[in-house]
This record gives sequence, C-alpha cells and structure tokens, in this order.
Amino acid sequence: MTQSALVTGISGQDGAYLAKLLLGKGYEVYGLLPRRATDTLWRLRELGVERDVRLIDGDVTDLSSLIRAIEQSKAGEIYNLAAQSFVGTSWRQPLLTTQVSGVGAANVLEAVRLVSPTSRFYQASTSEMFGLVQAERQDESTPFYPRSPYGVAKLYAHWMTVNYRESFGLHASSGILFNHESPLRGIEFVTRKVTDAVARIKTGRQKELRLGNIDAQRDWGFAGDYVQAMWLMLQQANGDDYVIATGRTTTVRDMCSIAFSHVGLNYKDHVVLDPELLRPAEVDVLLGNPDKARQALGWTASTRLDQLITMMVDADMRRVDKA
Ligand code: NAP
Ligand code: GDD
Repeated sequence: MTQSALVTGISGQDGAYLAKLLLGKGYEVYGLLPRRATDTLWRLRELGVERDVRLIDGDVTDLSSLIRAIEQSKAGEIYNLAAQSFVGTSWRQPLLTTQVSGVGAANVLEAVRLVSPTSRFYQASTSEMFGLVQAERQDESTPFYPRSPYGVAKLYAHWMTVNYRESFGLHASSGILFNHESPLRGIEFVTRKVTDAVARIKTGRQKELRLGNIDAQRDWGFAGDYVQAMWLMLQQANGDDYVIATGRTTTVRDMCSIAFSHVGLNYKDHVVLDPELLRPAEVDVLLGNPDKARQALGWTASTRLDQLITMMVDADMRRVDKA
C-alpha cells in the first residue's frame, strides 16, 4: 500500500527537500499550506516537485485545520517543520513566534493524539535550544539554555514532544538539528545573505555587504543531507531525540571568506560591520556531536562547508544572471 506523509512547513527550505525525498521513496506527500497573499511555492518548483505534492489549506495555529489535514491525508508519518524560524525576528515578534513555533507544535501533537495516535511524528527542534552552550560539543544530554524567544518557543515544543511520547506512547521524535543551508535557504539567513551578495557584488549590482557579528560560529551542514535524518528517525522502532550536525564549527567570517574567494574576491574589501545587525543576545558558538545519529541511524553529514557554500554561490550567480 502507498504510504502517505503530511509535512507542515512544506514551502520552506526543509519542506521542499523533504517532499522531494519522500516522493522519491514512493510516498504520497501532503503539505499543509497556510494562506498567503503571494506565491510561496518557488522552492518546490525549483526542485521540480510542485505538481507532485498535495496541498491542504491549513495553519499550525489552527487546531481544526490540523485535524482536517490528518484526516484527509491519512498520513502515517507527520513532519512538523512549520515555524517562524528567523531568530532575529523572534525578538520583534515574540508572541507570534511562540504561537507558531511553540504552541503550533503542541497543536500538531494534539491533532495526532486525537485523530491518528499510531502515526509517527517528527518535531523540528534546533541547536538554538543550546544557546549559551553548557558543553563544548553539544549532544542529546547537554542542558539547554536558549537565548532568543525563538529558542524558548522551540524548547517548549521539544519538551511537549518528549512529554507526548512519555504520556501517550506516541512515536514522537525530536530532531535537534544544527544549522543547515542550501541554495533554497531564505535570504534573511547569513549564509544565503552572503552568497546572494557575492553574486551581486561580482556582477556589479551591489557594492558592500553589511553584517553583524562575524565572529559567531556555527556548525553548518547541507539541508539535503539533514532531511534524510528526519526520515530515518521515523523508521526506527521507537521515537527518540537525536542531534544532527557535522561536528565542525566555522566563524561567519571564514564562511564569508570561502564565498567571496570562490569568485576571486576578498571579503575584507566588501564586508561592512553594522552594529544595528547585532542581536540583543547572541549564540556565540554551536558545535554538535552527532555520534548517536551515526550509531543509531547510520547517518552522517556528507557535504563539506566549502562544497555547500560554493554550491550556494553558483546558484546565486545563475539567479542574478537570469534576473
Ligand atoms: P523556513 O524555510 O523558514 O520554513 C518555515 C515554514 O513554516 C514555511 O513553509 C512557512 O510558510 C511555514 N509556516 C510559517 N508559519 C506557519 C503557520 N502558522 N502555519 C503553517 N506553516 C507555517 O525554515 P526551514 O529552514 O525550512 O526549517 C524547517 C524547520 O526546522 C523550522 O521549524 C525551523 O525552525 C527548524 N530548524 C531549522 C534549522 C535550519 O538551520 N534550517 C535548524 C534547526 C531547526 P510561509 O513561508 O508561507 O510562512
Ligand atoms: N541573519 C544574519 N544576518 N545573521 C548574521 C548577520 C546578518 O547580517 N551577521 C552576523 N550574523 C550571525 C548571527 O548573529 C548568528 O550568530 C549567525 O550569523 C547565524 O545567523 P542565522 O543565519 O540567522 O542563523 P541562526 O543560527 O540565528 O538560526 C538558524 O539556525 C538555527 C539552528 O541553530 C535558523 O535556521 C534557525 O531557525 C535554526 O533553528
């Protein structure tokens, strides 16, 4: 029998890669799509799967729409990727972030419990929950210390996932994913902001790139690798929590250097530090320990940061050439 999966956040970076992965495995893929005034399907289109996914009108802040989506899709696997996912915005819209990224996950868990308690559930948790890190390399047992309203909202969603697993026996897994990027990354995130600027500067469309804290360090991987880990978690006998990371960390400064030098430029000639872009509280460094995922899921990150960033610069060069 054909398996079906329901993905919230299907129009986002990970939603698009996950939809493509699941379709390739023969799933019927349903996506929960919140009503927006503009077209949000460009990522699905770029991956050539826009016509293959079945979209259901709904929103994670609206429980009845989630109940309808689960009933309609009859999904055996439910991936909750929906979020207000930009950390910077979470200080300016803390309550919306709480509703979507925190309570939204509780709504999906409730809908699963009420309608389809044997379905398997994935929660998109995050390394932002480690925030002010309490260990040099963060793993599943590292204490959390979120530093943004987004991180706090995600920590609530994470513990609700654990709680529904323990209280109701749901097959519920929390993937604690470290930063992952791709040519489909939103332009507000630092890697894509940099690779887009590199393409514009190289082609004479932009002069400078304004950045905030370029000493911040992140454990960056490729989104295409990370959605495989999501799927693997739901294929296990029981739900669990897993750190998904590369195990390497790099400064924003060094990531810029890789991006600019790929097209023969020096980042020092173009990057301007802008105090307006500093955050009220910063996550200085993230470095994940993915040993559990390697041992239990057989998963490892297969794309190096230089490969990822050059892939993103090349995609942005093609985009600006076409524009
Ligand atoms: P993204 O590109 O920002 O996608 C977020 C998705 O959520 C979009 O499709 C968005 O739709 C949807 N959404 C927002 N509000 C919604 C609502 N009220 N109801 C239903 N859908 C809603 O994020 P991503 O990078 O793909 O990340 C996927 C998930 O993983 C997110 O939960 C994120 O917090 C988490 N995560 C990401 C990373 C990372 O490095 N990428 C790391 C750890 C965890 P619209 O665009 O129409 O608003
Ligand atoms: N966005 C942005 N823009 N970040 C900048 C800039 C800038 O101009 N200048 C410096 N940075 C620094 C930020 O201060 C942060 O330390 C780092 O670059 C990465 O910022 P983002 O790319 O915005 O990602 P993030 O780490 O805050 O959050 C992402 O990763 C989380 C997982 O750790 C998001 O995808 C979250 O949704 C995800 O949970």
